[in-house]
Amino acid sequence: MMQEQRLQVLGVVGSLNQKSVTRVVINYAADALGEKGCLVEVFDPVKEHLDLFNPDSAYNSAIYGVLQKRVEAADVFLLGTPDYHGSISSPLKNFLDHFWQEFAGKLFVPMVSSHEKGLTVLDQIRTVARQCYAWSLPYGISFVDKEDVRDGQISSETFKKRLEMMVQDVHHYGTLLAKQRVADLSSKYPSFMEASKSVVKLKAN
Ligand SMILES: Cc1cc2nc3c(=O)[nH]c(=O)nc-3n(C[C@H](O)[C@H](O)[C@H](O)COP(=O)(O)O)c2cc1C
Repeated sequence: MMQEQRLQVLGVVGSLNQKSVTRVVINYAADALGEKGCLVEVFDPVKEHLDLFNPDSAYNSAIYGVLQKRVEAADVFLLGTPDYHGSISSPLKNFLDHFWQEFAGKLFVPMVSSHEKGLTVLDQIRTVARQCYAWSLPYGISFVDKEDVRDGQISSETFKKRLEMMVQDVHHYGTLLAKQRVADLSSKYPSFMEASKSVVKLKAN
């Protein structure tokens, strides 16, 4: 984690839509975090196909090995999804289903494209965070197609300001959490990261 002490961020585009507004927002946030000095990557299932998670075969696939390294290296996950029936999209769920131990002690940033604020969707991302011992930003980022994002651009000044706040918070709290995670992994005192110690050390060897 945190090569040269730079916060590592993985953005995830949870839409297969070629003209996805979720993609526009994830890429915008990724660029803004890059300008802040973070090391940023984006996983976009349109560019990198990920089979539907199958526990019998997923862990042996070539893409899993590559993606797992990127997930392990990341300190923060920008999780973008359209609101589908008040739920997260299948591409985002599929990405999340491939991992769990890798998320422990890291920061999730829930981001949703919705006409209805996407509150149930944001809650579902927080539920995944809790199940995987990840932290979640205490607020979500929701945006509306054609109001906040138009013609492939962020079109609302209010939304730009909210993204600016998120970028600042991610940089600040992501860094604090990443440092604490490293400290907990090497600490002799008990913490919720206890269960991850053997896994992380095993992988490091
Ligand atoms: C199958 C499906 C279900 C949807 N359900 C909802 C919904 O429950 N609430 C809502 O506000 N929008 C809903 N939408 C609209 C999408 O959330 C919206 O178009 C979103 O901006 C798409 O994001 P994308 O461009 O990143 O794919 C739905 C769209 C689809 C295709």
